[in-house]
Amino acid sequence: MPFTVLDVQAMPRGERSRTRKVHDAFFRGLKASRPDAHIIAKDLAHHHDSLPAFDEWDVEAKFEVMYGEGKLDEVGARRWNALTALTDELHAANLVVVSAPMWNFGIPWFLKRWLDAVVQGRLTFEYVNGGYQGLLKGRSAVVLTSRDGDYRPGSPFASYDYHLPYLRMILGFMGLDPIHAVAAEPMVAGGPEAAARGLETAIAEAEKLGRSL
Ligand SMILES: Cc1cc2nc3c(=O)[nH]c(=O)nc-3n(C[C@H](O)[C@H](O)[C@H](O)COP(=O)(O)O)c2cc1C
Repeated sequence: MPFTVLDVQAMPRGERSRTRKVHDAFFRGLKASRPDAHIIAKDLAHHHDSLPAFDEWDVEAKFEVMYGEGKLDEVGARRWNALTALTDELHAANLVVVSAPMWNFGIPWFLKRWLDAVVQGRLTFEYVNGGYQGLLKGRSAVVLTSRDGDYRPGSPFASYDYHLPYLRMILGFMGLDPIHAVAAEPMVAGGPEAAARGLETAIAEAEKLGRSL
């Protein structure tokens, strides 16, 4: 079985994206250490229309499986199968890489749309004996990001970061462990020199991380 990587991309800015530079460095490193890795790219920023909308019928299917008897009508079954197809991609992976810039202190909406589809009881987590258990155990994750401000521990705005802590929590909730992260920061707040240094450091760190996995 090849080492399979789910490459979840939430970067709308194409080649101009700083997050993509960190992403590409990570995959350069990974391909050097695992030339046979099977990498499956999911471009959420450009193909979000194909993700479940989580309208009334998606929620209905979710609740019937979680709280009901799991009896799905034709529409419900179709909706549930669409969710299952997305969580199957996670189960088939050895490593999940999520690349997304910070938007309004959190994650871009199309990444949240994907998370709302894949964080599902019975598919990626279960509630057993009063506790949650992630069903993606045995797989690790990497989060790659960039942001204009500085949210490193000790910085005045560290507590504004609802991006990395959230992604660590929600990926961990599904059982992914360990979760590595590389952030390019500050891309604006510290001026051009700090930005260049921050990006360079993140690129080097990401490539090294890729080689180590
Ligand atoms: C809609 C939007 C919201 C943003 N919100 C924040 C923010 O809350 N904090 C921050 O530091 N940067 C914020 N930024 C800046 C980006 O995080 C930053 O420029 C990042 O490097 C962009 O990544 P990219 O080059 O991969 O697109 C925001 C950018 C956009 C487009």
